[in-house]
Amino acid sequence: MIYIDPPYNTGNDFIYEDDFSQKDEDYAENSGQTDEEGNRLVQNSESNGRFHTDWLNMMYPRLKLAKDLLSDDGVILITIDHNEHATVQMICDEIFGHNCFIGELVWKSSDNSNNNALTFSEDHNYILVYSKSPDWRPNFINDPEKRRHFKNPDNDPKGPWFDGNPVNNPGLRVNLQFDITTPSGKIIHHPANGWRWSRETMKEKFRTGELRFSKDESRVIRRTYLKDMEGLPPSTLLTNHSVTGHTRGAKYELKKLFPEEPVTSLFSTPKPTLLLKYLLTITVASDCVVMDFFSGSGSMADAVLQYNAQNSTSIKYIMIQIKEKCITDKAGNIPTYKNICEMGEERIRRAGKKIKEETGADIDYGFRCFRVDSSNMKDVYYKPSDIKQAELDLFTDNIKEDRTPEDLLIQVMLDLGVLLSSKIEEKKIAGKKVFSVENGYLIACFDEKVTEEVVTAIAQQHPFYAVFRDSSFSSDSVAANFEQIFDTYSPKTVRKVL
Ligand SMILES: C[S@@+](CC[C@H](N)C(=O)[O-])C[C@H]1O[C@@H](n2cnc3c(N)ncnc32)[C@H](O)[C@@H]1O
Repeated sequence: MIYIDPPYNTGNDFIYEDDFSQKDEDYAENSGQTDEEGNRLVQNSESNGRFHTDWLNMMYPRLKLAKDLLSDDGVILITIDHNEHATVQMICDEIFGHNCFIGELVWKSSDNSNNNALTFSEDHNYILVYSKSPDWRPNFINDPEKRRHFKNPDNDPKGPWFDGNPVNNPGLRVNLQFDITTPSGKIIHHPANGWRWSRETMKEKFRTGELRFSKDESRVIRRTYLKDMEGLPPSTLLTNHSVTGHTRGAKYELKKLFPEEPVTSLFSTPKPTLLLKYLLTITVASDCVVMDFFSGSGSMADAVLQYNAQNSTSIKYIMIQIKEKCITDKAGNIPTYKNICEMGEERIRRAGKKIKEETGADIDYGFRCFRVDSSNMKDVYYKPSDIKQAELDLFTDNIKEDRTPEDLLIQVMLDLGVLLSSKIEEKKIAGKKVFSVENGYLIACFDEKVTEEVVTAIAQQHPFYAVFRDSSFSSDSVAANFEQIFDTYSPKTVRKVL
C-alpha cells in the first residue's frame, strides 16, 4: 500500500523551487526557505499565477513513481482537501487509469465546527483510492457501527443475532413463489417476487433455526448471527471519531509523545493513527509493505507498529520525508529537532517504546534510516595521460573520503538486490570489522589493511557474496592471493571488489 498525504496546497505550503514550472526570482527570493541540503523550498501562494500547475508539477512525478513502485495487487490512498481534490483526481485518472479508481472516502476530519467560517464549516477531507489493477478489492470488515444492532436478549447459545434480514427474493423468481404452512396450520403467502430459497433449503433453515416464525405465525423471520458475518464492505463515510479519529486528536497524540515540546513547535499537520490504522484494516495483507511518500511526523509508522502489535501482523513500512527545517515559532521557541525527519525518527522510537510497554507485543520495533545521496564512488574523468606520476597516490582510492563502511555496505546490498531490511551483524575477524548480512549470505569487509587471515576466515564461512574494497588489502600479495583463497575454501562464492 502506498499512502500519500501531500501538502494540501492551501496557499501557505512550501514546495521545492525545482518543481516550479518557471522560476520567478523575485517571488522565490521573498517567499523561500532552504532545506538542510540547501534546496530551496518556496511558498506556493495563490497569487502565484501558476498556483495549481506548480503543485501538480510537484505531485505528478511522485505519483508516476508511486505507480512504478506499487505491487500488482497494491493500492494507493491519497488524502486531500478541496484545494487540489479535482486536479489530483485528474492526474490519477491519467496515471492509473479511470478503471483503477476504486473509490473516494470522506473522512470527518474535524471534531468541532468552524463557527467563524464565511460559507461552510469545512469538516472533512477526501481519501482517493486507486489501484494498479481494476480487480483490487478492499478488505471487508466487521464495522462496529454495523454490528450495533446484533444483540442477544434471549441468550441464544449461538451469540448475538439480528432478525431483520430479508427473506424475499430481490428479482422475480416464479419457481420460488410457494406458500408455507406454519406448525399450527396457518398459511403464509409468498412475497411478491418469491422466497430467497427453494422449499428444501427453507426447510433446512427452519431446522437449524436460521428461519423461524413470528409469534403470531404471520411472518417468516431470518436470524443472522454475528459470528457468521464474514465482514461487510467498508463505507465511504468515515464519520465515527472513535474509529477514524480527527485532526485535533492527531495533534494531541503527538503532544503526548513529546510532552516537553511546546505545541507550536510540534509538527502542525499530523494525521491520527486511528485513521491510518483503519486504512490499514481495509487495505492491507498481514505481511505487506506500506510506503508513505510524505511521512511528516511519522504517524504511519506509529500506526503500523500499533496495527502489528494488535493483530500479530508483520507489516513493514517505508517512510519518506524531505529534510524540511523545523522553524522557530512566533513565541521564539527554538525547535529541538533540526528537521522533520529527525522528529519523525524520534516519534517512531517513542511510539515503539510506548506500544511495547502497553501491549508487551513481541513485534519488530526497529527501523533503519537512509538518506538519498550521491554515489560512494569518486568520479574519475581523467585520461591516464592527464595524471602526473607525483599525483598517483591521490587516485589510489576510488571511494569518496567521507563514506563510512556502512555506506559501502548499503550500496553493495542495493547493487546485489539484497533487501535493506535484512539482518545485519557486525563481527570482528582478526581485528577487522566484518559485516554479515542474513546469517552470512553476504559477508563484507571494508576496513584498511585486510590480511590473508581475514580473507581466509571469510571464505571459510562460504558466503554467497563476499565483498571487499580494492584499496583495503594489506599488500599486493594479499590482493593477488584473494581469488586463490576463495578458490580453495569456497569456490562458489561470488566475489566483488569495490
Ligand atoms: C500533510 S504533511 C504529512 C503529514 C503526515 N502524514 C503525518 O501524519 O505526520 C505533508 C508533508 O509533505 C512534506 N512536503 C512538503 N512539500 C514537499 C515537497 N515539495 N516534496 C516532498 N515533501 C514535501 C512536508 O514536509 C510535510 O511533512
